[in-house]
Amino acid sequence: MRDVYPDQAQWWQRMEWKLADTLRRYGYGEIRTPMLEPTELFARSIGEETDIVEKEMYTFQDRDGSSLTLRPEGTASVVRSYIENNQWKKEPVSRYYYLGPMFRHERPQKGRFRQFSQVGVELIGSLEPAADVEMIDVMVECIGAIGLKDTSLQLNSLGCAKCRPGYRDSLVSYLQKNRESLCENCQRRLETNPLRVLDCKEEACSHIADGAPKILDVLCENCAGHFQTVRRGLDSLALEYHINHRMVRGLDYYTRTTFELLAAGLGAQNAVAGGGRYDDLVKMLGGPEIPAIGFAAGLDRILLKLQETIPEPAALPTIFMVTRGGEAWRASLELMRELRRTGVQVCSDVRQGSMKSQMKQADRRGARFVLVLGEDELASGQVTVKDMHAEAGSDQKQVQIPREELHRHLLQRLGLLEGMAR
Ligand code: HAM
Repeated sequence: MRDVYPDQAQWWQRMEWKLADTLRRYGYGEIRTPMLEPTELFARSIGEETDIVEKEMYTFQDRDGSSLTLRPEGTASVVRSYIENNQWKKEPVSRYYYLGPMFRHERPQKGRFRQFSQVGVELIGSLEPAADVEMIDVMVECIGAIGLKDTSLQLNSLGCAKCRPGYRDSLVSYLQKNRESLCENCQRRLETNPLRVLDCKEEACSHIADGAPKILDVLCENCAGHFQTVRRGLDSLALEYHINHRMVRGLDYYTRTTFELLAAGLGAQNAVAGGGRYDDLVKMLGGPEIPAIGFAAGLDRILLKLQETIPEPAALPTIFMVTRGGEAWRASLELMRELRRTGVQVCSDVRQGSMKSQMKQADRRGARFVLVLGEDELASGQVTVKDMHAEAGSDQKQVQIPREELHRHLLQRLGLLEGMAR
C-alpha cells in the first residue's frame, strides 16, 4: 500500500477526469458503495474456491463479532446495493460506474499492489448481445481516452448453467489423464476449480492447457448464438480481438462472454482490464432473475505504462508573491485572492522569511513570475513584476505595473487573455 504525493496525484486526477467524462457520454452514472461489506457477500459472489476468497481478503471481526471484509472488487457491492434498493423497479436497465480503492492480500510485484484502484463499469438488466458489445466498446474507449495504446482484446465465452457442467466434466477427465505433470496448485484446483487450470502460468500446466478441450466447441445453441452476435457487433465497430479459450477469469460469477484487455511491457501483470457477463449473480444474492455484464480496469497498472510514454501533465504557471513589511503583507492578501479568482496559481511565503529567503522559495517552486510589494510599491500604487523566464537584461525582466492593471498584464503575459475572451 502506498502514499500518493501531489506529483503523482496529478496523474491520477487526469486519469479519473478522463474516465468520468468518457463514461458520462455513454450514459453511465457514478455509484459509491462502502469500502467494507459483510464477508459473506464476497464469499458467495466471487466464490469460496477462488484465490481472492481463499487467501487474499482483508477480513476482520467487527465489535459485534460479525465478519467484515475490505472490498477486493466492486461488482458484488454494486449488486448488493442494486437489490437492496429495488433498482429494477425504478429503471429497466441500470448503468453504473465506480472509481476507487480495492484490497487484495497478494504478493506485491510490478503492477500488483495490496491496495489498488479500479474503475469499474456495470450494466444490469439486459441479456442481449447488444449489452456485451456496448460494454466492450466502453472498456476500449475508456482505456483509449486515458492514453493507453497497444492493447490487445481477448475474448471467450464460459457458457451457462446448461452447457458449462458438461464442459467441466470433459475438462476434468482430460486433466486427470495429465494429473502428474500439473503443478501442485493445479492438482488441487483440479478438485476445486478445474477451469482455473487453463490460465495457470506454470510452463508444464500451460502446455497441458493448450491441448485441453475448448469450451467454445461445446457451447449450447443459445450461448453459441449469443457469442456469434457479439462477435458480429465487434466487427461492426472494427474492434480487433483474439479468441482466447484459456481465459477463464479469477472470479466464479461469470457466465457467457468474458473479456480482457492486455498491455505489452507490464510483465506477468499484463491484464489492464477484465470483465464479463454475470447473468446469475443478482438472483444468487437474493434478487430477481436479472442478467448483467461489466468490467473493471486496474488504474495503477495503467499508470505505470502511461508514465513511460506520455509527458508529465503540465504544471500550472506559478506566481509568487514577495512582500516586505507588515503593511505590504496585508495589502498582498487581497491582491492574491483577486488573482486566484481569475484562475491563476499564486503562492506566498507563509513563514514570512527575509526577501532573500522568499525569493529562494519562489525559485524552488519554479515560479514564472515574482510579484514584489514593499514600501516603495505601496507608496506608488504599483507592483514590481519579475519575469523569471526572461533573459537577464531584457526589458521584460523587471517592470513596474500599476496595481489595477496587474491582472490584465499577467494574464496577457501568460497567454490566458485570449482564452478568457472566448
Ligand atoms: P479482476 O480481473 O479481478 O476483475 O480485476 C480487474 C482488473 O483490476 C485487473 O485486470 C487488473 O488490472 C486490476 N487488478 C486486480 N488485482 C490487482 C492488484 N493486486 N494490483 C493492481 N491491479 C489489480 C474484477 O475485479 C471484476 N469485478 C471485474 C468486473 C466488473 N466484472 C464484471 N464487472
